[in-house]
Amino acid sequence: MSPSLHGRTALVTGASSGIGLAVAEALAGAGARVLLTARDPARLDAAAQRLRGAGHRAAALAGTVADPGHPAACVAYAVQELGGLDILVNNAATNQPYGPLMEVDPDLWREAFTVNVEAALRLVQAAWRGWMREHGGSVVNICTEGAGHVGPNVGAYGTSKAALLHLTQQLAGELGPGVRVNAVSPGLVRTEMARFMWEAAGPSIAAGLPMGRIGEPEDIARAVVWLASQEAAWITGAELVVDGGTRVRAARVPGAAG
Ligand SMILES: NC(=O)c1ccc[n+]([C@@H]2O[C@H](COP(=O)([O-])OP(=O)(O)OC[C@H]3O[C@@H](n4cnc5c(N)ncnc54)[C@H](OP(=O)(O)O)[C@@H]3O)[C@@H](O)[C@H]2O)c1
Repeated sequence: MSPSLHGRTALVTGASSGIGLAVAEALAGAGARVLLTARDPARLDAAAQRLRGAGHRAAALAGTVADPGHPAACVAYAVQELGGLDILVNNAATNQPYGPLMEVDPDLWREAFTVNVEAALRLVQAAWRGWMREHGGSVVNICTEGAGHVGPNVGAYGTSKAALLHLTQQLAGELGPGVRVNAVSPGLVRTEMARFMWEAAGPSIAAGLPMGRIGEPEDIARAVVWLASQEAAWITGAELVVDGGTRVRAARVPGAAG
């Protein structure tokens, strides 16, 4: 049985495409009212319209999570226009700067941490002050399976996502019992952000995975809905890795199973 989110309100950042859009659709499909946010207003409005066209209650508020005023504006909008803010999904991120750390541009490094880490904290603070402290709630931060190990050229992204995972655990400790804070860590998923990887090497990556395919945004969305729902009522500070077996692929013996 799918979790029910009837009567709940959710805010999803980076909700105009990829994983964020799939999460917004899945939350709405489970009965939640959803506020979507991202930078490009046209693409965001189209996403919200898509949810409304499917019969869901959805609204859009454009902006960058890097703007210090954006979190409070989103929370105020959710509370005033949609009736609350029970679920926050911190999904918006940048995978820049790409390259060796010895050549990293300090401004781009700071930008990565602003978008990927600080914005998530600001959104949780705003949600806590504006709704969750009094009413409780559930936060899901989208990290990455890749933060569990190092790789070429992704030092800034990986370090920021590792910080987001630590932030998740810290906040979980600070905000219980009223507010649960968890992470979902995707492996390679077929979205724009990861296009450079799956276009170049998707089939060979898939062949090496126990599950035999790369991820689709809906694979991640289902995990987020479950973790955000009361089905996961005793789970906080957890990292749910949704990666088709990426972390255990070293044990794979090609052709040995199935
Ligand atoms: N795809 C993968 O393989 C993969 C793997 C591991 C983790 N993840 C994580 O999954 C999450 C979603 O990634 P995705 O692959 O779905 O990316 P995506 O398809 O490129 O979508 C990114 C979304 O975030 C929005 N966004 C980007 N920067 C923003 C900002 N500063 N403020 C507000 N919104 C912003 C984008 O819209 P605008 O450009 O209009 O703002 C878009 O809606 C990210 O946290 C990413 O790190 C992805």
